[in-house]
Amino acid sequence: MATPDATARTPDAPPVADAPPTADAPPTAGAPPTPDVTWHPRPADGPALPEPWPQRHLVLRTPRLELRPDDDASLLELVALVHDGIHPASTMPFQQAWTDAEPAYLGRGMLQYFWSERAAVSPERWSLHLVVRHDGAVAGIQSLTASRFGVLREVATGSYLGRRFQGRGLGTEMRAAVLAFAFDHLGAVSARSEYLEGSVASRRISERLGYRDDGTARIAPRDEPVVQQRVVLDRSGFTRPAWTLQVDGYTPDLAGLLAAAPPA
Ligand SMILES: CC(C)(COP(=O)(O)OP(=O)(O)OC[C@H]1O[C@@H](n2cnc3c(N)ncnc32)[C@H](O)[C@@H]1OP(=O)(O)O)[C@@H](O)C(=O)NCCC(=O)NCCS
Repeated sequence: MATPDATARTPDAPPVADAPPTADAPPTAGAPPTPDVTWHPRPADGPALPEPWPQRHLVLRTPRLELRPDDDASLLELVALVHDGIHPASTMPFQQAWTDAEPAYLGRGMLQYFWSERAAVSPERWSLHLVVRHDGAVAGIQSLTASRFGVLREVATGSYLGRRFQGRGLGTEMRAAVLAFAFDHLGAVSARSEYLEGSVASRRISERLGYRDDGTARIAPRDEPVVQQRVVLDRSGFTRPAWTLQVDGYTPDLAGLLAAAPPA
């Protein structure tokens, strides 16, 4: 009785990639024979490899700022900036009190947060945490996030600046940058944001750029209730800046990852 061949492929097994043609010519004396190898994964055809992380080439430029997706080197600079202070200790502008962490753990917690965000990126739910540079130095972060963007066409934003960069119009400029990117390149139709009661600069930025109020919530980042104001901006309501956003690195691969409109 014939024993089953353990190495035989079952009918359900996926087809193996085409084997390279074997050389018919007899091997030249001294040269090793060409090995008959089928590589797995199959080498990509053509000169360009598939891009595994298409957002790494993205750059948004405004008159004073450059915004690029986070990488480890820029996050380490961001950690140093945060240790230098981003808000008075008496106030908590964030809905999660992450800046209250013990200084010994704050930096690691920040890195782990951004890594977890990177690890979860997909067309279903993505985040672009754009590190903001002013004159080459990390000044803060401007986040642009979305869930089911391909269906909803809506983004959300959040941001902060190091204390020495605040109050110079940079917060307005970086928010306007990601809104222009979202509306004019990704094909967003609306953008959401929120701020806590007393965050005057955040409120002014939202008012200036055309957002309208969209309700409130009670939250307790420091275990005391505070009112969170939600705001929303429709594409048609965007009060555009006088400058034009420069965008590099918005590729078809990145558009696919974000479930967004293809580059013009
Ligand atoms: C919120 C933040 C990003 C704003 O950026 P910014 O560069 O400081 O703000 P801008 O200079 O663009 O100013 C925006 C508006 O707020 C006003 N403003 C700025 N700081 C202010 C302050 N401390 N008190 C009152 N108004 C202020 C400006 O006059 C401007 O108003 P205008 O448009 O009427 O002239 C920045 O201040 C910051 O990171 N703060 C700490 C963290 C934080 O609050 N993050 C937001 C969480 S929702």
